[in-house]
Amino acid sequence: MIQGGNGERDSFSSKFGVIAAAAGSAIGLGNIWRFPYVAGENGGGAFLLIYLIFIAAIGIPVMMSEFVIGRSAQLNPVGAFKKIAPGTKWHLIGLLGVVSAFIILAFYTVVAGWTLEYLLQSVKWAILSGKLGFSEMSNEALREFFTNHYEGFIAGIWRPVIWFVVMMAFTGYIVISGVKNGIEKYSKILMPVLFVLLIVLVIRSVTLEGARKGLIFLFKPDFSTIREAPMKIVIEALGQAFFSLSIGMGTLITYGSYIRKKENLASTAINVALADTFIAVVAGLAIFPAVFAFGINPGEGPELVYITLPVIFQNMAGGMLWAFMFFLLLCFAAITSTISVLEVIVAYFSEQLNMTRKRAALMAMISVGFLGILCTVSPDIFGIFNASPDLMLPLGGFFIVVFIGWILARDKTRKELSSEGTHTTGYFPLFNFLVKFVAPLAIALLFALGVYSRMIALFPSLG
Ligand code: PHE
Repeated sequence: MIQGGNGERDSFSSKFGVIAAAAGSAIGLGNIWRFPYVAGENGGGAFLLIYLIFIAAIGIPVMMSEFVIGRSAQLNPVGAFKKIAPGTKWHLIGLLGVVSAFIILAFYTVVAGWTLEYLLQSVKWAILSGKLGFSEMSNEALREFFTNHYEGFIAGIWRPVIWFVVMMAFTGYIVISGVKNGIEKYSKILMPVLFVLLIVLVIRSVTLEGARKGLIFLFKPDFSTIREAPMKIVIEALGQAFFSLSIGMGTLITYGSYIRKKENLASTAINVALADTFIAVVAGLAIFPAVFAFGINPGEGPELVYITLPVIFQNMAGGMLWAFMFFLLLCFAAITSTISVLEVIVAYFSEQLNMTRKRAALMAMISVGFLGILCTVSPDIFGIFNASPDLMLPLGGFFIVVFIGWILARDKTRKELSSEGTHTTGYFPLFNFLVKFVAPLAIALLFALGVYSRMIALFPSLG
């Protein structure tokens, strides 16, 4: 299937395919690795509540806006703005998205590579568990063992780099195969498998003794945590909402451009947002009850999944078999997301710079490869890249909703949302109000707060 140049443009072949691919993009390390630790650091239930409000009032409107832009233009984010707003500077928003794609893909693929290391280790740990004496170890000792492993692994150079390269190669292979035969095909298989695996883990976790405390932590908002650090919580909740839904950088403009004209964009967006939120909550359900059952601190940070969970798995009948399943699941979830980020760059290179898909993918992989290797050798660069979505995605999202709310003619938006009148758009006044006022104002305010709080962190005298 050729994109750009001549030939027919590739597209998703079915409604389920669209949802699987878009939900595959949305559901990833962001739900299973990032959501639990960010929620854990920000007090659990109260964070979840704010997060849900942001998903509904800001996330879904931004996602629909991206679909509208992508599908009406049938192009990558840069080309799309050039086509629907010719002679303006709006295509720079598309370019910002492509830049974000480079940064996110770099650190994201690094973390995705860790899942492969842990997949291999869990097999090794399962085989050697007798020799390593896991069953005689106290939880303290297990923790120390897994902490040492995690730290040793991260501090090394070769292993993280190799896993990163392997992950990048998988991603490139799927993207080069095209939209229907690559992205859609793999998403349709991987997403349901992930779902089943996660449910099995939840059943194990919530039936552990002492699991109740974890449920309370996740579902009962404790508002004193909001009073302590309100700014941090709202900014991180917004950043997490954007990151988790894959919005604000043109991923869904790109995927939107492959959605067939008859598909209903609003229901697609709502289904994807529901699936994404559901999986984040389910990941929380798999993790927090177990965290509390074993007396571990939920605010542990990015290593929550990589250190805490292996301790938990070792405590369960079946031991490292669980670890293997979990990291397999995490790996699947990650791949359906990395392909969506790479696709943004590939669509841009192939359509705007007239490259073949293969060449575009190879060029993108080499440049992202360079950035990713920087992330593996420098924890500082990794930290900056990992924190960047919190600001870059809301910035992109702000301009996307302003474009739909204020620039693009209202009739055009409505026509696209209704698929030329095929679907009802009774929700339109609400959608319009959200994209015109609520989303831009809320994002602008939170973005300003975010910049301000980062400045204070850098230059304490400003506070
Ligand atoms: N949404 C993905 C996740 O939650 C990450 C992602 C962000 C993918 C931005 C594409 C674009 O893991």
